[in-house]
Amino acid sequence: MKIAILGAMPEEIEPLLEKVEDIVRVDYANNTYYKATYKGIEIVIAYSKIGSAFSTLTATILLEKFGCDKLLFSGVAGAINEELEIGDLIYATKLCKHDLDITAFGHPHGFVPEGKVFIYPNEELTEIAKEVANSKDIELKGGVIATGDQFIHDNTKKEWIKETFNADAIEMEGYSVALVCDALNVPFFILRAISDSANSDASFDFDEFLEKSAKVSADFILEMVERV
Ligand code: ADE
Repeated sequence: MKIAILGAMPEEIEPLLEKVEDIVRVDYANNTYYKATYKGIEIVIAYSKIGSAFSTLTATILLEKFGCDKLLFSGVAGAINEELEIGDLIYATKLCKHDLDITAFGHPHGFVPEGKVFIYPNEELTEIAKEVANSKDIELKGGVIATGDQFIHDNTKKEWIKETFNADAIEMEGYSVALVCDALNVPFFILRAISDSANSDASFDFDEFLEKSAKVSADFILEMVERV
């Protein structure tokens, strides 16, 4: 078995690279992939760069070129649900693309013909995450994660996403990664630690908490790898 671990930014994979062994760097298609092992398990780590276009490309390469048969995403997100605080961990129960809009043709937000508004992660991986959380006494919440090619830092926009998709957290890669894995029948799991609250303070909070929250997520993902 070979597990892909994907982040969007260098900060999201650096805590992983510090803990894995036998790293072999492979440069391919304008990106770097790190083949490695963790407790004897084969993994491939990469960061895609921000947004749905780059993350679609990187997820596809992890599965099609490197032959990964499971994918775990680790990174940070903005909170939409008021119960989520900076540093909290949330996994996607389902994912949507909040900025996909052909409502002009009578379709609902987030939908295009032959697509789906929501994509669902793998249940077995979700159960493994719950086991890790229980055994380590880590608080882990599940919720709807909304993806879009925008950094949200505005209460009006945030409220609209919350009302339209019942979203709990917001980020910029989850849905596109989910779409690739869903299409190729590869089990996937999307984990995020909160870095900001997608409000007017979001860009300051993001800069301040990115590294710390990214590490919270990465440490949890490595705990999962051992049990997958
Ligand atoms: N990732 C982390 N915070 C975010 C935000 N506020 N909007 C979009 N993506 C994010």
